[in-house]
Amino acid sequence: MFSSSSLADLPKSAQYASLLEQAQALMSGESNHIANAANMSALVMASLPELNWAGFYFYDGEELVLGPFQGKPACLRIALNRGVCGAAATSRQTQLVPDVHVFPGHIACDAASRAEIVVPLIHTGQLLGVWDVDSPVAGRFDEEDQRGMQALCNLFLQTLKVSAPIPEYTKS
Ligand code: SME
Repeated sequence: MFSSSSLADLPKSAQYASLLEQAQALMSGESNHIANAANMSALVMASLPELNWAGFYFYDGEELVLGPFQGKPACLRIALNRGVCGAAATSRQTQLVPDVHVFPGHIACDAASRAEIVVPLIHTGQLLGVWDVDSPVAGRFDEEDQRGMQALCNLFLQTLKVSAPIPEYTKS
């Protein structure tokens, strides 16, 4: 049985090295995006300090729809022109936000959130969704977190066999 534990006492480089190793072990041999998204969310929330939300939004061809996550219940749908998630999805650039209070249009799903990092998920050139992590501590994320989160997302993307938008999220 897999058991994750807090990496809080390690330097960030070691935290992400351990997370990548654990994520690789958890996802290897599994190509179902829901299963891998659920475990990646649980792994990150259980392992990294000072987080209050970690999870996925998947693109349905029109907007971002809530996927597997850990944390408080969150907004179900996010338009592409809204919030940090929308900015990551439309720019296809990771959004590193030290203080969400000064990010124009930030969507406060959890009022406790102060810092946020959102990585766009691009699969075979198409927008698949975003990976979103929130912290109650302003300035919690830096470039090292950005590189670590992007590496985790790359691992997640490598496991997929679907093309974006994911069929079950696609509006009919
Ligand atoms: N804060 C995000 C919304 C999603 S929640 O943080 C889970 C945003 O501004 O897009």
